[in-house]
Amino acid sequence: MTRPVNILAICGSTRKGSTNEVLIDIIADLYRSSTEFIRFEGLSDLPHFNPDLDTETPPPAVTAFREQLRAADGILICTPEYAMGVPGSLKNALDWVVSSMEFSGKPVVLITASSMGEQAHQSLIRTLLVIESDLPESSRLLIPFVKSKVRDGKIVDEQLLQAVKAVMESMLSKFIGQQ
Ligand SMILES: Cc1cc2nc3c(=O)[nH]c(=O)nc-3n(C[C@H](O)[C@H](O)[C@H](O)COP(=O)(O)O)c2cc1C
Repeated sequence: MTRPVNILAICGSTRKGSTNEVLIDIIADLYRSSTEFIRFEGLSDLPHFNPDLDTETPPPAVTAFREQLRAADGILICTPEYAMGVPGSLKNALDWVVSSMEFSGKPVVLITASSMGEQAHQSLIRTLLVIESDLPESSRLLIPFVKSKVRDGKIVDEQLLQAVKAVMESMLSKFIGQQ
């Protein structure tokens, strides 16, 4: 391996102290020797998707998002569920790449970590597959009751720790021997 695998991590929660953000930090720490995690910080800066703005010169925040996606070897999405669906800011971000197709063929790990989460998880799988993400079942993880399993910056549930490692390794195994 000559260079670390670049993973762009997108958190579907923009709140301070988000459990999903903590999960991203834990995962980045688990794989720090072989992988460079770059946190996408611009979710709140993306304008509301409007096809009229989706031109050859889109808003700068959109261009920056697309460039970060293109530069990444893989993408990690960690998100809660809101009101039985995908958080609006995350869905908005995905709407911006329907025409530009940065997810096409890109390895993605999807973790939906919430109180329940099933509706958001299924909805995201449908969206990510329609934009041609490389998202096999082995790269998808639903974590219900997340706040009882992730506490004080740690995964306190051993079964969950193993499941998180399994989804990450499903993606990272694609890069073995490629760098
Ligand atoms: C407005 C709102 C709506 C929510 N709706 C749901 C829901 O439909 N399903 C669910 O599992 N959790 C729901 N939750 C709970 C959050 O998903 C849960 O607190 C999650 O852990 C938040 O993730 P975060 O810690 O990364 O911000 C909702 C929370 C808020 C603030």
